[in-house]
Amino acid sequence: MKKVIIAKDSDELNKIAAGKFVSIARNTLKKKDKFTVALAGGSTPKSLYNLLASDEFRSQIDWKKVFFFFGDERNVLPDSDESNFRMANENLLKPLQISPENIFRWETELEDAEKIAENYEKTIEEFFNLAENEFPRFDLILLGMGEDGHTASLFPFSRALRETKRIAVVNFVEKLNTNRLTFTFPTTNNASNIIFLISGAAKANALKEILEGESQPEKFPAQNVSLKNGNLFWLIDAPAARLLK
Ligand code: 6PG
Repeated sequence: MKKVIIAKDSDELNKIAAGKFVSIARNTLKKKDKFTVALAGGSTPKSLYNLLASDEFRSQIDWKKVFFFFGDERNVLPDSDESNFRMANENLLKPLQISPENIFRWETELEDAEKIAENYEKTIEEFFNLAENEFPRFDLILLGMGEDGHTASLFPFSRALRETKRIAVVNFVEKLNTNRLTFTFPTTNNASNIIFLISGAAKANALKEILEGESQPEKFPAQNVSLKNGNLFWLIDAPAARLLK
């Protein structure tokens, strides 16, 4: 199921996203004793994380049963102000007093990017008790989208877009001249639920191409996100949605 929801502004966007996060978590925890979520990085989710950790929402989920992963990471130390882990830790995980046993981050202190990616894959394989060539099925993956239509660290024309075997990889990003660490599309597209959280007029052009343009998955990687067996929610604020029909 794919649903596009347009909020009037970023406040309403975050309220809708927090509500969706809570309902997915609560519905999942009715059937299972663990809820697995892969967090998004960048700047957009910061206010959502603050809202989830606020009095209004924090008591609605049994956080001891929530297990946190990261859909992508920069190749920086966990205390770097570039780190997606650090942003989530400061705005969500520490305020909610999440136990370290419930947090699985990319171990970027290992420095060697390939080693970091391999270790993360092993961590995921063990946690989900995966068989050979099996992909994890996250209960929820949060994704952002860049102005160029990238998502996670799957950037236009980058090698990782074509990865079909691995769970998580290093991805060299030409325009940033740096290695990033990212889930692959077989991993994202195996999730039970995905929430895209997209805010701001700067995203409008890419969003128009992705949701209403022709298929150009190398140029607009977020077009590759699709769930054969799950719910895909595009949560967008009005400025980002301004060019949509
Ligand atoms: C990252 C994110 C990335 C992000 C987009 C949008 O590591 O930067 O995972 O995919 O979601 O770049 O970033 P903003 O939310 O800052 O616009």
